[in-house]
Amino acid sequence: MQSAEIVESVVKRFSRVAMGIDAGFGVWTGNRCAEYIGYGDVLDAMPTVALESFVGVGNPASFAALAEGDRVLDVGCGAGLDALVAAAAVGPDGEVTGVDITPVMIERACEAAAAAPWASVTFLVADAAEHLPFDDGSFDVVQSNGCLNLSPHKRELLAEVHRVLRPGGRLALCDAVLKADKAAEVTADPDNWSL
Ligand SMILES: C[S@@+](CC[C@H](N)C(=O)[O-])C[C@H]1O[C@@H](n2cnc3c(N)ncnc32)[C@H](O)[C@@H]1O
Repeated sequence: MQSAEIVESVVKRFSRVAMGIDAGFGVWTGNRCAEYIGYGDVLDAMPTVALESFVGVGNPASFAALAEGDRVLDVGCGAGLDALVAAAAVGPDGEVTGVDITPVMIERACEAAAAAPWASVTFLVADAAEHLPFDDGSFDVVQSNGCLNLSPHKRELLAEVHRVLRPGGRLALCDAVLKADKAAEVTADPDNWSL
């Protein structure tokens, strides 16, 4: 299986989520998923559009030790919920940037940012495994929620994350891990890469 086929399958499935079409996920999405993960009261301040298209496996901001003024990058930001949770934590002196490979997700994230009270959030389309359009050492924190498992180029993606993180910066990663004995069987089907 070609990695281009995997990437296409991922973008197709997350575009469906962003458009509110049943994407055939075996897991909860949207508000129900966020509540199950346990984000708590912070969800009350989040725009509906960010919640509706949320798909995640954890809450990276809950252990990223975010401080006021931090510069944060969210890799695979989807419709922006995790990035906005980070924006609430870093305050007006901080900056949050979200990147996602799925253009419709970035459209949703921009809508969410426009509806949110935090000005210091920007979103752009980028494939984090190809190139992150930032200088070396640009961020104090990189966070990601359920993105790394979707990429057939994990080593390249992590190398880009390492490059844009400042020395001594922090990585807060929530992701899904495949048990070794199932790896060949599961990864042979491109649809499984986007579940
Ligand atoms: C599970 S969702 C993350 C949701 C998001 N954190 C939120 O707050 O709603 C994973 C996201 O990773 C994106 N993604 C997958 N591969 C990527 C890559 N190579 N570069 C950037 N984004 C990627 C997908 O398009 C998807 O929106």
